[in-house]
Amino acid sequence: MEKRQQLYAGKAKSVYATDDADYVVLSFRDDTSAFDGEKVEQLNRKGEVNNKFNAFIMQTLSGAGIATHFEKLLNETESLVKRMQMIPVECVVRNVASGSLVRRLGVEDGMSLTPPVFEFFLKNDALHDPMVNEYHIATFGWATEAQVQKMKQLTFEVNTVLKQLFADAGMILVDYKLEFGIFGGEVILGDEFSPDGCRLWDAQTRKKLDKDRFRQGLGGVIEAYEEVAKRIGVTL
Ligand code: C5P
Repeated sequence: MEKRQQLYAGKAKSVYATDDADYVVLSFRDDTSAFDGEKVEQLNRKGEVNNKFNAFIMQTLSGAGIATHFEKLLNETESLVKRMQMIPVECVVRNVASGSLVRRLGVEDGMSLTPPVFEFFLKNDALHDPMVNEYHIATFGWATEAQVQKMKQLTFEVNTVLKQLFADAGMILVDYKLEFGIFGGEVILGDEFSPDGCRLWDAQTRKKLDKDRFRQGLGGVIEAYEEVAKRIGVTL
């Protein structure tokens, strides 16, 4: 497999073509951004930590029967993934109220949510990723009804697997964001799962172990990511 030209550079990852049309290289950079790219910093080791963290999670999900784009780790900061047609919506599940839910609805931060809340957001930085519903997705043709149902089903299946994984390691999976794409006509999990795209709190102290440390200027961002990785058994 040969790495070819860069196809796309996002805020934290870049995508490169390969000599196989069905695969691309996902390259995890140290760039860390928040607030739709308004706050950007380089955090030493983040690319490597997130690449290995994501590989571990994707393999765990795959072992639980959830199809993902992940193929294999290539090196410290790069993974080989299936080239998908991305669906431009983000799927968020919340087990505990925090972040934008608290700002929008005025509910208490830390309130346990039963049943968990599911939300769709449009992937669009210029519009600040507005919340959308299934009617918007159908009307504007971002996904079919069957694809919407599949994304919801898979996002909740991920919740079952990962809530337990983190609970066993003394953490609460507060919320997370997933992105899906289409490969061979099927909806499969894409993008990444790392502390950049979820909230994780220590179960005892409720210490934040995720990107909120960066957003809120709490410091110790990578140290927290490494601690989570260590607790769940990721080899760094
Ligand atoms: O900001 P909000 O509370 O809506 O975020 C919910 C979850 O989705 C958080 O875990 C956050 O890190 C993640 N998220 C993300 N990328 C976005 C928006 C939210 O990873 N563009």
